[in-house]
Amino acid sequence: MYVELRNVNKAFGKFPALSDVSFAIEKGKLVGLLGPSGSGKTTILRSLAGLERPESGDIYIADKRVNDLPAAKRGIGFVFQNYALFRYMTVFDNIAFGLEVLKTPRKQIAERVGELVALIGLEGLEGRYPNQLSGGQKQRVAFARALAPNPQLLLLDEPFAAIDAKVRKELRTWLRETISKVGITSIFVTHDQDEAIEVADEIIITNLGRIEQIGAPDEIYSNPRTPFVAKFIGQSETLSGYGRLKGFAAAEGFSEAIVRPEFVRVFKSGSEPYPHAVDSGVVESSIFRGDAQELHLNVAGMRVIANQPLDEAKFQIGEEVRVLIGKLFLTNDTEVRLVENQSLKDDNPVYI
Ligand SMILES: Nc1ncnc2c1ncn2[C@@H]1O[C@H](COP(=O)(O)OP(=O)(O)OP(=O)(O)O)[C@@H](O)[C@H]1O
Ligand SMILES: [Mg+2]
Repeated sequence: MYVELRNVNKAFGKFPALSDVSFAIEKGKLVGLLGPSGSGKTTILRSLAGLERPESGDIYIADKRVNDLPAAKRGIGFVFQNYALFRYMTVFDNIAFGLEVLKTPRKQIAERVGELVALIGLEGLEGRYPNQLSGGQKQRVAFARALAPNPQLLLLDEPFAAIDAKVRKELRTWLRETISKVGITSIFVTHDQDEAIEVADEIIITNLGRIEQIGAPDEIYSNPRTPFVAKFIGQSETLSGYGRLKGFAAAEGFSEAIVRPEFVRVFKSGSEPYPHAVDSGVVESSIFRGDAQELHLNVAGMRVIANQPLDEAKFQIGEEVRVLIGKLFLTNDTEVRLVENQSLKDDNPVYI
């Protein structure tokens, strides 16, 4: 494996920021580190970069153990969340910075900066200062600056956190394409699951300084392995009395269930295709989401969220509806079990 952490532990005072963190990354992959605030994402990047010194464990980069290698010798490019461009330097000088430090000949610097400016699509803006750039442009310059000395590993810590939603979406597509063009092994931190799912080849989920799950985005999404991941990924609602729902019996040892909007369908009373598999529910509130009506339902005293496509039936607040829950993730302290609505099997759909 190209990059590897083996049983890395890092504490700040008595606080364990990383506990036995192990993972491995193949060369050329773009990996997303996803987890809640304080879960250790930045500490993982900083340990890789040599900016933190773990108490124990081993770190390998390009198949070489780097524990005792200083940050500057690890061949890492780092993009920080808060731009961190040099304010009194132009775009050109910012990108050239790492090459100047390495005492690269002038002509070579000009060539390399030219290449990178073209890569980030900012031709003609080489002479501008950071305060003359938009947030998205600044992050592209930070990206080019990190790439300039040809690092063997690129680390990005919430590179788009300070950028507004629309530009952020464009930038993540751009990042994905540009990284695959350059072919550099990269790890980027985010706490936005959509960003991780859309951009990463592989996702590592962190929680309380531990790794919860590692896998391809679709695998993580459809097959959460731990209760934390099941709750964290998707728009999840936790149901404590799931045994009251049609088609689901309370399973021994599983006290809670998790439901996501895509597990739920809502029908007008009397028009439900599976009469024995549906529950009654009441629409408590609704949010217009542009492409769907998000319905917050009360089903047997529990909150269930459904996304109703706009071209299908509309529902009013207070309306009594039929709610079909197709499946649930049952959870206890350590396990997740996917169960299907048993009554669906016995029910012959009624077509009307
Ligand atoms: N220098 C430090 N001194 C003391 N505690 C620290 C230090 N750096 C981080 N921590 C603690 O270690 C834990 C992990 O921090 P880290 O910055 O890695 O989290 P994170 O996942 O990057 O969070 P965020 O999404 O908010 O950036 C946190 O509880 C944090 O308070
Ligand atoms: Mg952080």
